[in-house]
Amino acid sequence: MRHYEKHKGILLAGGRGTRLYPLTAITSKQLVAIYNKPMIYYSLTTLMLAGIREVLVISTPEDLPRFEALLGTGEQWGMSLEYAVQDQPRGIAEALVIGADFSGEDPSMLMLGDNLFYGRFDFLRLAMEGHGDHATVFAYQVGNPSEYGVVEFGADGHAVSLEEKPVAPRSRWAVPGIYLYPPGVGERVKAQQPSARGELEITDLNRAFLNEGRLKVQPLGRGIAWFDTGTPRSLLEASNFIEAVEQRQGLIIGSPEEVAYRMGFINLAGFNHTVSRLPGSSYREYLERVPDEIDSLSGFST
Ligand code: TTP
Repeated sequence: MRHYEKHKGILLAGGRGTRLYPLTAITSKQLVAIYNKPMIYYSLTTLMLAGIREVLVISTPEDLPRFEALLGTGEQWGMSLEYAVQDQPRGIAEALVIGADFSGEDPSMLMLGDNLFYGRFDFLRLAMEGHGDHATVFAYQVGNPSEYGVVEFGADGHAVSLEEKPVAPRSRWAVPGIYLYPPGVGERVKAQQPSARGELEITDLNRAFLNEGRLKVQPLGRGIAWFDTGTPRSLLEASNFIEAVEQRQGLIIGSPEEVAYRMGFINLAGFNHTVSRLPGSSYREYLERVPDEIDSLSGFST
């Protein structure tokens, strides 16, 4: 087994979604559409493209059954999906406590269900192979750093500070919602104090790793697109982006069926079986063309 295949995925899809109200009045933010798919398809397929096949989906008591209805056991994609409730939005880091038994002795990749990445995912594989007993987070330059965890780099390129939603950010490097942790991280979070806003802060956890010299911060270049889709405007921007790329290339972004097949989680027979159960739609028609397109492109890197 290659090292990265040991990682367990934790997909956090709870929260209040107040900034998207009234879209989120009766449904979960992570079920709202980004262009033509439920938001969670994009984060789920990011984990899959990183090679992760075992994922724990965490959401609110009201919404969890809907995620289960949408995603099922994962078997249709050659995956194993489990589900757990976060009864109150007590912070992103609480996902690691909820997922502690699920991760067991394995390292974990925590991903927020309202984050969307597009680009080559080699950076995830590389980070997974190399982090050992360190935690790894990423850094991405944004125009509005005050809305995120912000990392400051020293002259040697190492991270020197990490602050949550600073009023006066020390850099434009925001920390996106995808994090790698060594085994046992849930126990650490159990000992953590909630912040003034009553949450177990992921930035506090990451700062603790930083203070111990056990945090790797990997800057992401402009070849990766990162969207966080928590506001009406960012939701539209992400939808426009997906629509533009899909339309131009005639490809679909964030399809678990396609990713499962391309990643070898399912073989052709399994793929055909999964697709045969989808309702007639342009989505299904696209998927029906995928195996032939892959055959005709073998030799190219896609
Ligand atoms: P946020 O966008 O910070 O919070 P939110 O989703 O509740 O939205 P709003 O601020 O509009 O009320 O959360 C980031 C992601 O983490 C999002 O996918 C929801 C998820 N989340 C949880 O599942 N549980 C939590 O306790 C928190 C704080 C966030």
